[in-house]
Amino acid sequence: MRSSNTNPFKDQPYSFAKKFVPYTLCAFLPVALIYLYFDPFSLSPTDQLYWNNRVVVHSSPPPPPISLEERKKTGVRTSCDYSNGKWDPTNLGPLYNGTTCGTIKHGQNCMVFGRPDKDYLYWKWTPKECKLPRFDPKTFLQLLENKHIAFVGDSLARNQLESLLCLVATASSPNLFYTDGEGKFRKWNFPSHNMNISIYWSPFLVRGIEKTLENNFNTLYLDSVDERWASDMDHIDILVLSVGHWYLHPAYYHYGDSVLGCHYCQNCTEIGFYDVFGKALNTTFQTVIERRGSDPGGSEISVVLTTFSPAHFEGEWDQFGACSKIKPYDETEKKLEGMDLEMRKVELERVNFAKLKAEKFGNIRFEALDVTKLALLRPDGHPGPYMNPFPFANGIADRVPNDCVHWCLPGAIDTWNEILLDVIKRWESRVGR
Ligand SMILES: *[C@@H]1O[C@H](CO)[C@@H](O)[C@H](O)[C@H]1NC(C)=O
Ligand SMILES: *[C@@H]1O[C@H](CO)[C@@H](O)[C@H](O)[C@H]1NC(C)=O
Ligand SMILES: *[C@@H]1O[C@H](CO)[C@@H](O)[C@H](O)[C@H]1NC(C)=O
Ligand SMILES: *[C@@H]1O[C@H](CO)[C@@H](O)[C@H](O)[C@H]1NC(C)=O
Repeated sequence: MRSSNTNPFKDQPYSFAKKFVPYTLCAFLPVALIYLYFDPFSLSPTDQLYWNNRVVVHSSPPPPPISLEERKKTGVRTSCDYSNGKWDPTNLGPLYNGTTCGTIKHGQNCMVFGRPDKDYLYWKWTPKECKLPRFDPKTFLQLLENKHIAFVGDSLARNQLESLLCLVATASSPNLFYTDGEGKFRKWNFPSHNMNISIYWSPFLVRGIEKTLENNFNTLYLDSVDERWASDMDHIDILVLSVGHWYLHPAYYHYGDSVLGCHYCQNCTEIGFYDVFGKALNTTFQTVIERRGSDPGGSEISVVLTTFSPAHFEGEWDQFGACSKIKPYDETEKKLEGMDLEMRKVELERVNFAKLKAEKFGNIRFEALDVTKLALLRPDGHPGPYMNPFPFANGIADRVPNDCVHWCLPGAIDTWNEILLDVIKRWESRVGR
């Protein structure tokens, strides 16, 4: 058993990792160790409760009130529970690849890094309740003409953003018009439709100080949003938020002037991270409502929260075959449970709460992009050892770093954006909205 003092990089010099994955790696390697080996919460009584008595989770937040008559008029159902479905094989491959898209992060460009199997590219998600059409970049561009869609969050937000960029770029070329140099903050414009897509690095959404090599814990200020993204809120039409994995790290939590507690620390009360995560989401949503809420007629903002994306480590992160499956699970093989279930539950509760709060305003929409279950069923979708180029060029070693958190591009995560487009289409087809 490892102790919490174990340096996850002991076997792998950090500089090696740093060379390929500057800020991504710190997000998932310690996490893998944390929740596989010494997360006191992974088997806590509360968790056990959820495992034994499946908690009733609203798999889809309730749709806003809309009369049947209106539904008939549009002929389109206003919502669909996308999370209920299965992965079916398809002959249609991805819309793009590592040669046609210039913005794929190295560690996720699996084809180019020598991943030999290709089956993971040939699956489509089939929801039970509705048809999910293949991503159509032209439709996306038309719906977002003169709009700005911003992704805010951690490296999974970036993963989803890069998928979207690659998908849309098959129909129209983007210009990168802003970058901070590190690539944590970037903005693209699609001149054909005056659409902007951007990414903001903000792994907590609220204000925080990220851990460093010397100081292995994050400090979070749960009552105030991270202004690195929030100060641009007035110029955002669709805000896609994706966070979660950074909440598993050791951390100190502040709320106003008080210290609430901490996670994996010595000198403070352990309070875990679920409640803290809920508070951070509440602060985020509340701030959007305060700053953007107005009567109908005001400019609209839609907030989409991509739900927690499960990791698929089997055993240690740097063990050969840590995530070597090459096929999706079927629905009966894998149940949503433990931390994945709990993180999603917190997210759906907070989105539903924000919806209620925003009801009195006519211009704010909250939506959960509930991908946790479909992501859980895709153990085959991660880069694994192909986070580094040709990891087995010199034969198979016992120890090889694996990324079982992020998603290969192209790959399963393209489906998140397929669903996002379908959700946006449903908004547009609503009468009076
Ligand atoms: C990438 O896509 C382009 C355009 O569709 C195609 O010509 C090329 O063969 C593809 N490359 C690979 C490696 O699949
Ligand atoms: C896109 O960004 C540019 C540069 O900041 C800005 O001039 C333009 O108004 C933006 N367009 C939209 C639709 O947000
Ligand atoms: C606990 O220890 C950390 C690291 O040494 C320190 O920064 C923090 O202020 C301490 N917190 C309390 C409540 O004493
Ligand atoms: C949510 O945030 C608001 C504003 O920051 C605060 O007043 C409220 O108490 C919070 N609610 C919960 C349930 O945390």
